[in-house]
Amino acid sequence: IRDIKGGPEEGLELVGQKLVVRGWVRTCRVQRSVTFIEVNDGSCLSNMQCVVNSDAEGYDQVESGSVTTGASLMVEGVLVSSQGSKQKVELRVEKLTVIGNCDPSTFPIQKKRASREFLRTVAHLRPRTNTFGAVARVRNALAHATHKFFQENGFTWISSPIITASDCEGAGEQFCVTTLIPAAKEGTETLVDAIPRTKDGMVDWSQDFFGKPAFLTVSGQLNAETYATALSDVYTFGPTFRAENSNTSRHLAEFWMIEPELAFADLHDDMACATAYLQYVVRYVLENCKEDMDFFNTWIEKGILDRLNDVAEKDFVQLTYTDAVELLIKAKRKFEFPVKWGCDLQSEHERYITEEAFGGRPVIIRDYPKDIKAFYMRANDDGKTVAAMDLLVPRVGELIGGSQREERLEYLENRLDELKLDKESFWWYLDLRRFGSVPHAGFGLGFERLVQFATGIDNIRDAIPFPRTPASAEF
Ligand code: 4AD
Ligand code: MG
Repeated sequence: IRDIKGGPEEGLELVGQKLVVRGWVRTCRVQRSVTFIEVNDGSCLSNMQCVVNSDAEGYDQVESGSVTTGASLMVEGVLVSSQGSKQKVELRVEKLTVIGNCDPSTFPIQKKRASREFLRTVAHLRPRTNTFGAVARVRNALAHATHKFFQENGFTWISSPIITASDCEGAGEQFCVTTLIPAAKEGTETLVDAIPRTKDGMVDWSQDFFGKPAFLTVSGQLNAETYATALSDVYTFGPTFRAENSNTSRHLAEFWMIEPELAFADLHDDMACATAYLQYVVRYVLENCKEDMDFFNTWIEKGILDRLNDVAEKDFVQLTYTDAVELLIKAKRKFEFPVKWGCDLQSEHERYITEEAFGGRPVIIRDYPKDIKAFYMRANDDGKTVAAMDLLVPRVGELIGGSQREERLEYLENRLDELKLDKESFWWYLDLRRFGSVPHAGFGLGFERLVQFATGIDNIRDAIPFPRTPASAEF
């Protein structure tokens, strides 16, 4: 349907051609002399209006009531210009075949608008709705644009591992990987009984991954650094996991992250890359997903097109953490969490900065206190701050977190000691500083937060096909 309606004359150039359309019925209006079936195949938001007369082959299926909302069908016919105001063309049906029936009395996706909360309980069927179809297509376009941007700029895509022994962010928010005991598997009723246990019945974590502890990755950064210090600019794009028990509209337990890593680069190069990347992908969806973006502008967030156009064209705001704190202290409003130098910025602070102080523009805050940031960030000369940056956007808050990495062996070893991290386990990471170290920098962007930002969808659970949260890992 996209190929037909997306043509130069919205399909008029194909009038007279014989076509086959396969899809799912959105609505079926039976009138005395003619029946209108709206068919959607998911390729675009638009339906194909199919006009069926009683002489069409398979018309008996209309009469018997088989053409119901949700049923799948194949229609063959001739494309004609349409009298209707909503479309330029429609299909005059010669043959109609219902492929899969759909009982209207039990089909959960009815024509009336269902709440997002309800649709999450039927995540296997929600892609049949306009909103979730559009989100899926824009998510796909953003993924495509991501690869396009990095490939066009000389980056190499690296797959980072999902199972790992290291905790990149040092926040202890990892999921453990467990090997089931084969012997126990056979003799037990549930897989849970096959989890290795100590004598007193506790889970034996030392037995996790074939005898060694292993976790799901929280970030591919450390692995990306190994390739950046060999291939120069690289990026990862894959699933990451966080065992944080936060039930917010911007946290998932499983999310996708894009992590570029730039060799021979400092924090300023990093911020420039983040800016160029974000502007590129925003421009890409504005140009390539017009129909879906118009839908979001009308139904999900009024004004999103203007907002995104601004993002694509205007410079981002940049300020240091110290200046941001000063701005918050001077703000004429009370925050739930009072601000002082050294504190982590809460979402209320981020909102104030992006939404009120700078009128909805993306803001990059840099040079954070070292005590609230990860071990690998490069120390600034002041001894108090590190070369870190967060990119904040309205509604979503932190979209990107990045930094210049500590490339000096001595500094890094001292920092690991200070934080009482096990230096031994970082032996390979330290090797990168022993053998041909280079200044390098990178960032991580939460892909679902980007989808939220680009579509206006307010809950992150609706920005990924199958959300994993503390409350749900069904489907
Ligand atoms: O700020 P974070 O924790 O940074 C890192 O993991 C670095 N190692 C990245 C790097 O420099 N290569 O996470 C990066 C981004 C955040 O800005 C946010 O957009 C997203 O990942 N993110 C989440 N998205 C959804 N659910 C969660 N629980 C998230 N945690 C982080
Ligand atoms: Mg962060």
